Amino acid sequence: MPLVTTTEMFKKAYDGGYAVGAFNVNNMEIIQGITEAAGELKAPVILQVSKGARAYANHTYLVKLVEAAVIENPEIPIALHLDHGDSFELCKSCIDGGFTSVMIDASSKPYEENIALTKKVVEYAHDHGVVVEAELGTLAGVEDEVSVEADKAMYTHPEEVVDFATRTGCDSLAIAIGTSHGAYKFKPGTKPQLRFDVLEECAKQLPGFPIVLHGSSSVPQEFVAEINKYGGNMPGAIGIPEEQLRQAARSAVCKINIDSDIRLAMTAVIRKYFAEHPDHFDPRQYLKPARQAVKEMVAHKIVDVLGCDGKA
Ligand code: G3H
Ligand code: 13P
Ligand code: ZN
Repeated sequence: MPLVTTTEMFKKAYDGGYAVGAFNVNNMEIIQGITEAAGELKAPVILQVSKGARAYANHTYLVKLVEAAVIENPEIPIALHLDHGDSFELCKSCIDGGFTSVMIDASSKPYEENIALTKKVVEYAHDHGVVVEAELGTLAGVEDEVSVEADKAMYTHPEEVVDFATRTGCDSLAIAIGTSHGAYKFKPGTKPQLRFDVLEECAKQLPGFPIVLHGSSSVPQEFVAEINKYGGNMPGAIGIPEEQLRQAARSAVCKINIDSDIRLAMTAVIRKYFAEHPDHFDPRQYLKPARQAVKEMVAHKIVDVLGCDGKA
């Protein structure tokens, strides 16, 4: 089947109590690793491209690689999504250039500005058959020293979500419930805990509406240990416990974003490879196990965290 939007995927995920994985792609091996896992497990999948990915690999290369993955995996629905679009122009360029879904992330702007920009993107996207993810709330990094009041202010305010979704017309909404981007999500020694009360309240306000979680890598400690064993230095890298993501996937959360775990899986394998084969220099030799590591990590997420295997 051709590239699809997320509309049907999210409806099925909402009704079925699972989530679709949204994995960031930056090169051929990552695209292959993700889609081979999804194809074998008959799972719907979202391939997402950030502004940085586009700058690194080039829009056309990424679109053509994704189109190749669609041809190679004809039985599963695949959506191509812009991750964290920060302007109307960037979203328009992706809409015009073959993406089926875009995110406009105006969450750092004042509320009314977020609404105005999101609405503008939605109008253009919907006119072109493309769906839009928007964001309300702030995903904070562990390094941010914040007071309790500021901490509270970062989470999505459930009382705003209906107004926001109605006035913007967005198709899905990313909310802040304690996830954050990167490999250092919680201070070592603190107990990672998502705010399920905020999630439940948002879901109650928007029945049937797909909710999205960003910053949802679990930073598997076996990858961190391998990286540190083979010359890396990543003390205190901590992610979201997988049981909490599993719990979220059973709720109104229909899309869970994972990028850092891909980076960690590849880096761990490549560091080990070079430590064990110091004389090797053919990129195929170390990218092959790196691609396999992405595939295994994604397969694990599909089955044990997202619960979307067999849902294609
Ligand atoms: O949420 C951000 C994603 O992990 C993309 O990261 O901007 O380094 O491509 P990036
Ligand atoms: P992680 O850094 O937790 O993988 O989050 C990725 C993400 O949210 C991409 O938008
Ligand atoms: Zn994100």
